Amino acid sequence: MQSSVTKGLLHVGVIMDGNGRWATGRGLPRLAGHRQGAKAVRRTVEAAPDLGISILTLFAFSADNWLRPAPEVEGLMDLFEEFLSRERRELIDKGVRVEIIGRRDRLRPHIVNRIERLELETAEGTALCLRLAVDYSARWAITQAATTLSRMASPDPLLFREQLQRVQHSSPQVPDLDLLIRTSGEQRLSDFLLWESAYAELYFTDTLWPDFDAPDLARAVDVFRRRDRRFGRLQAIREMAS
Ligand code: FPP
Repeated sequence: MQSSVTKGLLHVGVIMDGNGRWATGRGLPRLAGHRQGAKAVRRTVEAAPDLGISILTLFAFSADNWLRPAPEVEGLMDLFEEFLSRERRELIDKGVRVEIIGRRDRLRPHIVNRIERLELETAEGTALCLRLAVDYSARWAITQAATTLSRMASPDPLLFREQLQRVQHSSPQVPDLDLLIRTSGEQRLSDFLLWESAYAELYFTDTLWPDFDAPDLARAVDVFRRRDRRFGRLQAIREMAS
């Protein structure tokens, strides 16, 4: 799959980690860290277009996060719901197309309604495509797509990617990830965009997500732009012919 980097525009994914440590380090409840994390989401969305990022996929809630204590799960869902309504006007005005990827069958029905409404209202946005991964598991999506494919009368492996995008509620034209950032010093993928990260450049920073800001994002993109991407070839691919 060709990367959006060919047009100089990037698909960047972020595993936003460290909210809990940010809060406990200050003697605050973990939810205070998530709340601060939502502010970092806003800063990152604002900074992304000027850095040449056309698609930003943020890991907001993993399928495994349901296993956290109920008050934290509820708090995260409240925050997400709040985000969908509080940021709505600004996202529309700034031309940000919003897409929520992941399962929807386990979300509160009115959250699903808000998601559907916001996706419709922002569908024409061209400044940035903001994808929030909620109740997301790459393994789940891959398994679902493979199952759907295997049920087809004449399974065509070329359709796999299309199925994968469909089961995770992603628009079909979204390209692979160019750069994957994880904050808070942890260095793992945690079931995030496993298929789409096949040739992603990985960038880890010790900064806790609530402290992450525009200069941090700029630093990550700068490091990325100085990397050689060979995609299995011998020479770096800077401008791939389409
Ligand atoms: C991981 O940090 C972060 C999460 C599980 C939730 C991410 C949520 C936000 C950034 C805020 C809400 C987002 C939106 C879109 C409104 P952690 O809790 O695992 O931190 P820890 O490893 O320090 O405990």
